[in-house]
Amino acid sequence: MVAPQEFLKFIDDNATKFISRLGEAVAIPSVSGDGARRPDVFKMSAWLDGQLKQLGVTTKLVDLGKHVMDGQELPLPPAILGRIGEDPAKKTVLIYGHYDVQPAEKSDGWNTEPFTMVFNEKTGEMLGRGSTDDKGPILGWLNVLEAHKTLGLALPVNLRFCFEGMEESGSEGLDDLIKSETAKGNDGFFGGVDCVCISDNYWLNTRTPCITYGLRGLVYFKMTVSGPARDLHSGVFGRMVHEPMTDLVTLLSKLVAPDGTILVPGVEDMVPPADFDEKEIYDKLDYSIQDVEDAVGAPITLSNDKTTVLMGRMRMPSLSLHGIEGAFYSPGAKTVIPACVSGKFSIRIVPPMTPKAVEDCVLPFVKAEFAKLNSKNKLTIENLHDGRPWVADHKHWSYEAARRATEAVYQRSPDLTREGGSIPVTLTFAETLNVNVLLLPMGRGDDGAHSTNEKLDRSNFIEGSKLLGTYLYEVGAATV
Ligand code: BES
Ligand code: MN
Ligand code: MN
Repeated sequence: MVAPQEFLKFIDDNATKFISRLGEAVAIPSVSGDGARRPDVFKMSAWLDGQLKQLGVTTKLVDLGKHVMDGQELPLPPAILGRIGEDPAKKTVLIYGHYDVQPAEKSDGWNTEPFTMVFNEKTGEMLGRGSTDDKGPILGWLNVLEAHKTLGLALPVNLRFCFEGMEESGSEGLDDLIKSETAKGNDGFFGGVDCVCISDNYWLNTRTPCITYGLRGLVYFKMTVSGPARDLHSGVFGRMVHEPMTDLVTLLSKLVAPDGTILVPGVEDMVPPADFDEKEIYDKLDYSIQDVEDAVGAPITLSNDKTTVLMGRMRMPSLSLHGIEGAFYSPGAKTVIPACVSGKFSIRIVPPMTPKAVEDCVLPFVKAEFAKLNSKNKLTIENLHDGRPWVADHKHWSYEAARRATEAVYQRSPDLTREGGSIPVTLTFAETLNVNVLLLPMGRGDDGAHSTNEKLDRSNFIEGSKLLGTYLYEVGAATV
């Protein structure tokens, strides 16, 4: 074990304090996707900036300008750039995380208030929005910093931090910042960075730690059907006019089959089938159908074959229907014909798919299907945001360091996984800085990111903080 014993002990001894700090972070409802919560996203940036400063990090809040969301102009929360350590003899690790969270309301089905963290001492679960995505992991890094500052220990590497507040809403403004800073060369903020580490995903299951070398990309579409000038009474106008909702639901039904097959012509063809060797990678992972059923809370997997199910998430595209804006969805039985409805759906993409190639299949197909309906309503469809898929070299020394760190902390070898989710900035870092990017998760597969009752287990938070610190020692000790 290369990490000093006193560092590990400090993390154990200060667990209670670290948990209450996570509670403070969860209490700030920094929901980037809700305009009304934007001041809280700013509050969260100030809180995090204060924490970093207290721990000896030199920080700079970068104003990313404004954007328009749902027709409202809003200020973008700042990127927090931080640095600590300037030793040219040490490696420099860039750490990324996001301090914004997904929306949450108790009425969505939470058992507790989503923005009041509840620590269940019996189960070890710390419940609250953002506990695992991504406040817990960010605070893991703070725990590492605090241990070193208090103990008077030198950090084994130079650290650079890049924390953003818009990840859950498309990372607006961040790509431009990374590109313009990188263009400044060694004088820019990212000058001298040797590798990037991101802790913003999850173990496959609840037992086995993993390190992750791939993410799916995403193309998010909104299609709108409009007709009447206002909502109509269905008793008065039903069967007299073309109904937007009928058109929209017909179109949505053409996109994906109940077995998950994407029906938009051309999309499935973009991905070559897995050969025997590739299948073996998924066969070997510690995962079972039971793990999926536990995580989703019902026996509803598309297949009973673990490898097929895992490939569905890691190396196949998927199309999900998310919702219908403008539809009647309240309790009761309102007899309305909605005047304008928007269907939201997205496609997760894997190499070698690109957002452009997907868009070029989806847009003409949807328009052609709409034409077949002979409807007098109007259709528009747009790409709201997209990001390309990412796969990294998992034989890189940074991955080796992460593997050794995992073995040291958890006494077992990590699974090597690809993820079904997306973190758009990952590819920007990899391509713009031209360095290796590693995903080193803290939480478990059943944490419920984006869902109700999101949680992080105490042991994942505490052992995960040790893991992040130990990883830095392994990087520092790597002889490359
Ligand atoms: N932490 C997730 C990314 C993630 C999700 C990793 C699932 C592994 C498994 C991140 O915060 C996230 O939610 N990303 C969004 C990105 C989107 C808004 C472009 C996602 O995947 O939906
Ligand atoms: Mn996240
Ligand atoms: Mn997320």
